[in-house]
Amino acid sequence: MDATFGGEVPPHLHTGRGADPFLRFLARASAGLEWLNRRGSRRRPPVVAVDRDLRVVVDRVRAEAEEVVSLRLRAADGSALPAWQPGAHLDVVLPSGRIRQYSLCGSTADRHHYRVAVRRIADGGGGSREVHDELGEGSALVVRGPRNAFPFVTAARYLFVAGGIGITPILPMVRTAAARGADWRLVYTGRSRDSMPFLDELAALDPARVWIRPDREYGVPASGSELLEHAPSDPAIYCCGPTPMITGVRIDARRTGQCAVHWERFSAPPVVDGRPFQVELATDGRVLDVPADRSALDVIRELRPQVAYSCRQGFCGTCRVEVVSGAVEHRDHVLTDDERGGHMMICVSRARGDRLVVDL
Ligand code: FES
Repeated sequence: MDATFGGEVPPHLHTGRGADPFLRFLARASAGLEWLNRRGSRRRPPVVAVDRDLRVVVDRVRAEAEEVVSLRLRAADGSALPAWQPGAHLDVVLPSGRIRQYSLCGSTADRHHYRVAVRRIADGGGGSREVHDELGEGSALVVRGPRNAFPFVTAARYLFVAGGIGITPILPMVRTAAARGADWRLVYTGRSRDSMPFLDELAALDPARVWIRPDREYGVPASGSELLEHAPSDPAIYCCGPTPMITGVRIDARRTGQCAVHWERFSAPPVVDGRPFQVELATDGRVLDVPADRSALDVIRELRPQVAYSCRQGFCGTCRVEVVSGAVEHRDHVLTDDERGGHMMICVSRARGDRLVVDL
């Protein structure tokens, strides 16, 4: 999630061709879990859209770790900001028009400030570079939300697992769990301590409940079972970070019969049950082949890099396009049945037949 849910994925987190055998195994396992989710009852509920634009100003920029800055935002007119719950995010409209999603990682009690944190992804889609290079104190922005795709349930015991910038939605959850007197543990992983934001804030919580596990100090990334080994009994498990970490936790939690894992990833999910199709761009008639294992968005962006996207998981609504002709297999979590009559989310949805014509 750049601390977004979708935006830009650090290259070392990708699990595609060229990855080592363990990562390829995790990628296949992740696809299998997606398949179960798509058919099971644990599909995510639709994310409620919050259609309000808030004008805000960056009032503080702080370096939180290597290549990670936090932005503190206040309302441009000084008024109180809408309340939010742990797990919520903002859609941030950057000056270029790019829209990126960032988890709120400040205090839910502070009604006059929001805080987000962003890791620079040098070869990403440009959103994180824009934040790092072009925003400063006094920059004006429009944000939408907050909205919550990662709701925090009340429980007596929690295990939180965070990887790198995945600490951003987890941090307010940990604070809330601690304030409620819940029994909680946090496992926080990352490449190295220098790359892991908010270690200072975590140190102010109960150190006996926090395990900092940098890969560099342990030699290898943690396995799912290792990440789960400090869990209190029968916990609600919240996990946010790179796909291999989430997949490892989900596999081992399922294998050992632990509670459901609530998770949020930063990258596009693997395509499951994909069939190849063609997408025709109505504005110039170009016809593109979408392979079984890629999204229409990825293929279209090779030709039209300016096509907007954010979450790449079918819940933010940014990549919505009008469908001129063809039947759509909708895989998003945001369109209503009525909207599905003439639109699709090209990051996840696919053709039912051989070709779709879209208004691009
Ligand atoms: S990019 Fe968010 S729904 Fe497609």
